Amino acid sequence: MKTLSLGWAALVACNLMAVASLAAAEVSPVERKAQLGRLLFFDATLSEPAGQSCASCHDPAVAFVDPDTAKPTSKGVHRERFGSRNTPSAMYMAFSPAFHFDQAEGHYVGGQFWDGRAATLEEQAKAPFLAPLEMANPDKRAVVEKVRRAAYAGQFDEVFGKDALAAVEPAFECIVAALAAFERTAEFQPFTTKHDAWLQGRAKLSSQELRGLALFNDEKKGNCAACHPSQRRPDGGLPLFTDFTYDNLGVPKNPENPFYRQHKAWNPQGAKFVDRGLGGVVKKRSEDGKFKVPTLRNIARTAPYMHNGYFRTLRGVVAFYNDRDLRPACKGAAIEAEALKRGCWPRPELRRNVNTEEMGRLGLSEQDVDDIVAFLQTLSDGYVP
Ligand code: HEC
Ligand code: HEC
Repeated sequence: MKTLSLGWAALVACNLMAVASLAAAEVSPVERKAQLGRLLFFDATLSEPAGQSCASCHDPAVAFVDPDTAKPTSKGVHRERFGSRNTPSAMYMAFSPAFHFDQAEGHYVGGQFWDGRAATLEEQAKAPFLAPLEMANPDKRAVVEKVRRAAYAGQFDEVFGKDALAAVEPAFECIVAALAAFERTAEFQPFTTKHDAWLQGRAKLSSQELRGLALFNDEKKGNCAACHPSQRRPDGGLPLFTDFTYDNLGVPKNPENPFYRQHKAWNPQGAKFVDRGLGGVVKKRSEDGKFKVPTLRNIARTAPYMHNGYFRTLRGVVAFYNDRDLRPACKGAAIEAEALKRGCWPRPELRRNVNTEEMGRLGLSEQDVDDIVAFLQTLSDGYVP
């Protein structure tokens, strides 16, 4: 657990220009930047070929995850290409502090992506445009040229100052600054769950939901809040259900991950591919297999679960936390449903650094598991008391 600071800090040259060009408008410069970011976010002409926008994989109708759940990972604009990781929600990620090593706590925290490899939302937004398995633009110039042709191109000068799109590098910085501004709006962090309403004294949780919450918080039971804090933040803000730290839960390889069958150009290791997570970013074996703690807000809407989408159900996730270290190892690969049926769990994708202290043998009853799952259903935004 740690004190969270807002990830607003990234200073891009465009931010300063924006202030200078503030017209006598009723809308603030930040709002106008965010409105432009919204247009970019939904613009499917910004991929190569055209056809995929940020919203294709981060759809507001499903808490900004991929609405296509047929596969555990998302397809790119080239529809036969699949990435290696499950698309996380982009919601509440504005709260992730810039990626850093916390000296006092002795661990990494914050950043964007499952492995923290982008420090900020601005840095993150650059990646999908240029990723061959996603929007597949060959370079920044290609992205900027597409934006120059967009109906809203003229707004760039209004928001960021004269000739904002004239040169490729600064133009690309303005594009990602606008996207990040959009991702910092209330649309991405509405704080309107049943649990929020309960904390504000505007709703009642059922007795089962309350039992689930107690188990979720109890260090001797679920202990979930150790990494997914459920209490108000130190500044009084509603809980984010992530502390933005990194852990290896021992999640099995997902035999259904289409990345294993990708062309050698994207995945030279084929079926032997192992996702090192944070370890691959900071180049340390001691961080191998660790992934960023995801928020549990809207979790009922964002299946499948975990970095590789191994779990299709919340019940399976909680069962895994409960008895990961009690069941025998499955012989060979097994998807979640098979493992549950056979009473086994496959070995971890990466055995180094698996957390055996806070999970694996929680001693929860079947009823306890159901109660925690019931509580998790109270974390979906849009609840009307
Ligand atoms: C083809 C699907 C796809 C598209 C298109 C896409 N994303 Fe993502 N997004 C992903 C995946 C997969 C990840 C996780 C990748 C990883 O961790 O390595 C991700 C991660 C993120 C994150 C980090 C969330 C977190 O929990 O750390 C943000 C924010 C985000 N995307 C925003 C965007 C924006 C902005 C765009 C458009 C410029 C975009 N995405 C386009 C699939 C996509
Ligand atoms: C030691 C830290 C830690 C504890 C304790 C913990 N989690 Fe997690 N949780 C994580 C991490 C890290 C991930 C992502 C791991 C991955 O993808 O490999 C995760 C993922 C999840 C996911 C999937 C989220 C998604 O978007 O895919 C759910 C659901 C979840 N946890 C629920 C729980 C519940 C319920 C408990 C208590 C029974 C719990 N967690 C306890 C760290 C923790």
